[in-house]
Amino acid sequence: MSIFGIETHLAVMESLRLFYRNPLVESILGIAVLTQIISGTRLVWKKRKMKTSSFEWLQLWSGLYLAFFLVIHVSAILVGRFILKLDTNFYFGAAGLNHFPANLFFIPYYGLAIFSFFGHIAGIHAQKMKKTILGFSPNQQAKMILVKGVLLSLLIFYGLTNGFTGIALPPGYEVLIGK
Ligand code: HEM
Repeated sequence: MSIFGIETHLAVMESLRLFYRNPLVESILGIAVLTQIISGTRLVWKKRKMKTSSFEWLQLWSGLYLAFFLVIHVSAILVGRFILKLDTNFYFGAAGLNHFPANLFFIPYYGLAIFSFFGHIAGIHAQKMKKTILGFSPNQQAKMILVKGVLLSLLIFYGLTNGFTGIALPPGYEVLIGK
């Protein structure tokens, strides 16, 4: 949405919040995230000594990264919301990406998260899919999912940095970049 402007992003998030910030929905989301982290980490532990194909390897490591990311990401959102008393909106998400030296951490941190999300889906797709679609084998389909992940990461970064030109932070958000 930020590709269409910051105001559009803020407005769409505001309307989606009516759904995902509903206490029941948010609790289910929280439980889902926790379950994913715990069950995923246990699976990785069980499979740690198995010989893996490249897509199984990708699935394992993308899952581990997502577990690490989700712990930090959701904790950061909760700290922003309840301790720093900030609106965890576009500016909260984009702050670190737009300012040096914070962006040295945030570009790979967010980039790997989006890529891992697609990597995790591509991994399971390559293992479970049996059908060829339009002449593309399951492995080729999985690679296309990965390409989609890379393209989407670039598009999201384009939006969050105002077309790679950078954004100014409103008062209150400078604390996120150590100012
Ligand atoms: C560029 C990448 C990302 C940015 C900038 C970002 C930013 C944000 C922001 C600003 C919020 C707060 C939303 C609100 O207050 O309404 C949020 C919440 C959240 N994000 Fe992300 N996020 C990114 C990637 C991801 C990924 C890849 C995942 C999962 C795989 C994820 C999972 C979540 C979850 C579970 C929440 C909590 C939602 C809630 O408040 O109930 N995020 N994110």
